[in-house]
Amino acid sequence: MRTDLHPDAFRRLRRGRFGEPYLYVRECASTQELLRDPALPEGTVAVAEHQTSGRGRLGRTWEDAPGSSLLCSLLLRPGGGVLPQLSLVAALATAEAVEAATGREAQLKWPNDVLVDGHKVAGILLEAVEGGVVAGIGINVGQESDELPAGTRTPAGSLRTASGRRHDRGELLAGLLLRLELAYDAWREGGLETLRGELERRNALRGQSVHIGEAHGIAGGIASGGGLEVVLRSGERIVVESGEVELAGGVDVGE
Ligand code: BTN
Repeated sequence: MRTDLHPDAFRRLRRGRFGEPYLYVRECASTQELLRDPALPEGTVAVAEHQTSGRGRLGRTWEDAPGSSLLCSLLLRPGGGVLPQLSLVAALATAEAVEAATGREAQLKWPNDVLVDGHKVAGILLEAVEGGVVAGIGINVGQESDELPAGTRTPAGSLRTASGRRHDRGELLAGLLLRLELAYDAWREGGLETLRGELERRNALRGQSVHIGEAHGIAGGIASGGGLEVVLRSGERIVVESGEVELAGGVDVGE
């Protein structure tokens, strides 16, 4: 059966240099596993209709309803030690693609969740591989509310629940890859500073009361290195570089 992610459909929609080669499978454990061959070039994309062991950040799982999500991994070869920044670059491009598709404002919950109206519609997982980084992006696209995972730390949403209509995943993927390419090129050229304005405009955490382990504070902006600025109750300013930040209201950040 041909779906909206079939290579024939995607080939007609691809606009930039990312997405070639295009590795399309009906089912796999995780698209992250399909890009480990060191001979694959930057820009290779792996896409699946369904993952049997989809992975999330911090050892969590990523659930999908077969045929309803965009589950893709993109191979990048930027040169070492840049995972946290690249994760923000990918999150920003994903937020832009979600916003373009739905017409609804998409926000970023540091480090890399994409929210619409407080619901997480997309997540990003970066993993190092030999000679590169695999950026895995999961977007809930066609699920109705009752098809989304329940009981998640941040309530789950989909493009369909956000916009009230169906979306073509091939068009979404083509738009996402083009935005990823533009953001990635801008970042490689000028660093995170070139994207700071856009990241900050979409920063859902600014001004929110948060927990970081045993400490409490108010989240601020995104620091030049990609960390989250927090002013602790003691008045001390810190930059959280990775890990868990929890909203004091009870909803977790960074899942
Ligand atoms: C998160 O929010 O925890 C990150 C979720 C990342 C999910 C995507 S789906 C495509 C790729 N393959 C995986 O197994 N995970 C990522």
